[in-house]
Amino acid sequence: MSEERLQKILARAGIASRRASEELIESGRVTVNGKVAKLGEKADLARDEVAFDGELVSVPDKHVVIALNKPVGYVSAMKDGRSRKCASELLPMDAHPSLFHVGRLDADTSGLLLFTTDGELGNRLAHPSHEVMKTYVARVKGCVSEDDIKRLEEGVMLKDGMTSPAQARLLSAGRASVVELKIHEGRNRQVRRMMEALGHPVISLQRVAIGNLTLDGIPEGAWRELTDEDIQLLLP
Ligand code: URA
Repeated sequence: MSEERLQKILARAGIASRRASEELIESGRVTVNGKVAKLGEKADLARDEVAFDGELVSVPDKHVVIALNKPVGYVSAMKDGRSRKCASELLPMDAHPSLFHVGRLDADTSGLLLFTTDGELGNRLAHPSHEVMKTYVARVKGCVSEDDIKRLEEGVMLKDGMTSPAQARLLSAGRASVVELKIHEGRNRQVRRMMEALGHPVISLQRVAIGNLTLDGIPEGAWRELTDEDIQLLLP
């Protein structure tokens, strides 16, 4: 192994993203060979002892990426201060204690949610600039028209601004309708707010794909570890 910047080591160890690791270094919680580290410092794990809050940092041989089919009623967080059910309860945390969620789903949304031990990859996947397309299927109140679909595709005005053009498809229409929506933004409760703005509040919402990776073969509440080929499907 060779020398690397400390924030890169901490990110690879799954402690935090590179950016957040810089803050951890600045706050004095990281030491190299017993001395408080400075931002910009490098270390070589083959030779140096790097510690975070007094615990020795080690970089696992191989990171994991896990796809969970999250049921309704679970928050995306690994821990919840309000004692709600957490997605982490469904995951192999003993084997991979540093797993964290990539992006979020509302507690009342089901479907594909990713977790990884790899801070770098997590950042790449979650960052809006990478424009990873997410596909949702929304069951909504009322009869959605082709006009509504056009509005979704053109962008909808929300209180935090216009949404980027979405790809929308009407799967069924009636007293309740089903719409497939592909978006790459990740604003808070975005799909719910877009449908509400059109006068069609969401009854239920599921994320069925991220990039070209789908929920296929993952029953609700179950997870699977992704292969390198799966990970390629996620990246644009
Ligand atoms: N849009 C929403 O409204 N909720 C989600 O969980 C994800 C996207």
